[in-house]
Amino acid sequence: MKKYLIPAVALALSLAACNPSEIKPSQDNPEGLISKKCDSVLALMTLEEKIGQLNQYSGDGELTGPVALRPDLLKSIRDGKVGSMLNINGAGYTRKIQKIAVEESRLKIPLIFGYDVIHGYKTIFPVPLGESAAWDPDLAEKAARVSATEAAAAGQHWTFAPMVDIARDARWGRIMEGSGEDPYLGSLLAVARVKGFQGEDLADPTTILACAKHYAGYGAAQAGRDYYTTDISEHSLREVYLPPFKAIAESGVETFMSAFNDLNGIPATGNRYLIHDILKTEWAFKGMVVSDWASISEMIMHGIVADKYEAGDLAFNAGVDMDMEGNVYISEMQNLLKDRKITEAQINESVRRVLRLKFKLGLFDDPYRYSDSIREAATLLKPEYLELARDAARKSFVLLKNEKNILPLSSSGKTIALIGPAADAAGDMIGNWSGRGEAKHVITLKQELESRIGDGKVIYAKGADFLGDDRSGFAAALAAARRADVIIAACGEAGMMSGESMSRADISIPGVQEELLLELAKLGKPLVLVLFNGRPLILTEISKTLPAILVAWIPGTMAGPALCDVLFGEYNPSGKLPVTFPYAVGQCPIFYNYKNSGRPGAQDQKFTSRYLDVPNDPLYPFGFGLSYTGFAYSNLTLGKPVITLEEPLEVSVDVRNTGNVAGTETVQLYIRDLVGSVTRPVKELKGFKKVFLKAGEAQTVSFTIKPDELAFYNREMKWGTEPGKFKVFVGTDSRSTMEAGFELK
Ligand code: GLC
Repeated sequence: MKKYLIPAVALALSLAACNPSEIKPSQDNPEGLISKKCDSVLALMTLEEKIGQLNQYSGDGELTGPVALRPDLLKSIRDGKVGSMLNINGAGYTRKIQKIAVEESRLKIPLIFGYDVIHGYKTIFPVPLGESAAWDPDLAEKAARVSATEAAAAGQHWTFAPMVDIARDARWGRIMEGSGEDPYLGSLLAVARVKGFQGEDLADPTTILACAKHYAGYGAAQAGRDYYTTDISEHSLREVYLPPFKAIAESGVETFMSAFNDLNGIPATGNRYLIHDILKTEWAFKGMVVSDWASISEMIMHGIVADKYEAGDLAFNAGVDMDMEGNVYISEMQNLLKDRKITEAQINESVRRVLRLKFKLGLFDDPYRYSDSIREAATLLKPEYLELARDAARKSFVLLKNEKNILPLSSSGKTIALIGPAADAAGDMIGNWSGRGEAKHVITLKQELESRIGDGKVIYAKGADFLGDDRSGFAAALAAARRADVIIAACGEAGMMSGESMSRADISIPGVQEELLLELAKLGKPLVLVLFNGRPLILTEISKTLPAILVAWIPGTMAGPALCDVLFGEYNPSGKLPVTFPYAVGQCPIFYNYKNSGRPGAQDQKFTSRYLDVPNDPLYPFGFGLSYTGFAYSNLTLGKPVITLEEPLEVSVDVRNTGNVAGTETVQLYIRDLVGSVTRPVKELKGFKKVFLKAGEAQTVSFTIKPDELAFYNREMKWGTEPGKFKVFVGTDSRSTMEAGFELK
């Protein structure tokens, strides 16, 4: 392969008396070699060029935040004042911009291109919350691998994903982007997604840098309002919000993104305890920290700094290496250095973290290796990628209700009325953060239905819009429904009603869709609601009358085929909720791993923890999901009733498929620590296993719980286990009551 070793690097390496020909990727110490290369390049750089590496601008393609006033972009690149760009898309465009950096700047240091590849680049997968409902880390890794391969072919070196913010409040629009409410499930999926993006070796041109975001606590926004204040105890920070970040820091994620939110009075982006003390010191993170969009300069609005100078001081001394679209580092860093607020050693350390990634990606060898239009054209939307997206979608669907086994539908002879704004809404199937995905590549439910059972058998009437109070379509919808044997209602949120800055105070099905559903239900015909949603919605009223509800989330490019696979029984739904569906929005934030309180309550018990008007329980709990078959649990057995720190707890349970179709069950294991030096959650997910069982088949499912999985932060904030009594719960969701006790000595 043609070597483009950048002249500067060649010069630097020769200065460092290591001639290019001597540079062999030494297997035993690749990091050491890269470190030497970084130091060689650093030695050539002026202070302005060093600061330039810590500056990131957005391209003129898509903007994801208030665009700061910015100098002429291309001149900045020529002047060596830009280290990275985001929102520059495509092999051709990235090559064009890279060419300016590597042929027209003094040192010709390549740019890193970043982009939000959140649930696909061109082939769009279910939104992450939906993908998480599959409870399938292998699948998540495969989807990330495909997304990285497409993005890398289109010039991207770096994705700002996975978003690993734990979210317990369905009002928060960005709950769509993560893995829901549980740290255990969230950590497993985060590690899988990073592995998919970064692969085994970043020298592989199909791999891209991943980014742990938004560090940290962003999902705990008060009142579910995006960008809003978070007030998180050290215990909750350490036990709920940090675990997924720690898991991927330990598994090798190469970048972090600091969050917007005020965290206990100090914005995350200026929070030295969070970044310098925990991430870079306690966790020894060697990668690079980028701010979120202008989150450095926005600390002025937070009121913790007076101007950009102070913002740069706070962020850089907190440990933020790169400034995304904030124009702070590029304008203030020299003054901060002159005033001894920061040191050149600190600047060198941050520049080294940036250069290290450029070397790991192979960009100094060949800055255009990701910008190959031929590879791009040959890679995007491959049939096998679309097939994986279809598989991920059908495994993401969660069956909440299926009275009288209305589902699966028979695909022969029946006339189907397809009603609702989501039935043929291609753009809403790929939703927010859909990268370069295009509606024209989406197969909608209407298209797939018509191609499967003939359009003569599908009577379509939109009935209503996602939003608004226009009921003029009701009559045609009801007329269509009267002519049909079965009604499928495709309703829910529009694709852009979740994601960044999309919080909702009312999380019911929007517009007049619920009214339409209740009118359809009055016809007394078999009626299936296919729900499209980027968050849990309030389904309490309609769940009383609608006989069948299938949660489809925002299913991606292959929405139609995946839905028909499930609706007609070619795939037996196996999804499980990664997040609680509240009974009422007033319960938010609501989650399964709550603390018991001194007066655990019920609606009819005065002077207990309760509401007068709604139950404490959610409508559908974390981990819930039905199947077209049933699963019976029996014979929960513990290896021994007493264990010590040196021996794990063996747990087994028998699971039988009680129906007449095969299906996959996600067997879940929770524990409860009955007494601790601090109060402990009533349940914590500590394991799950997916088992495929034929009709009538039974299997013994076993788990091994290691004692250190019982550890927590004690009253002195020390991590460790405490002797005492525990309960194990095993079952089909977080409400499982099948339990057994054990003791840790
Ligand atoms: C946005 C988001 C962040 C995203 C970044 C770049 O404001 O908060 O998740 O990666 O800007 O688009």
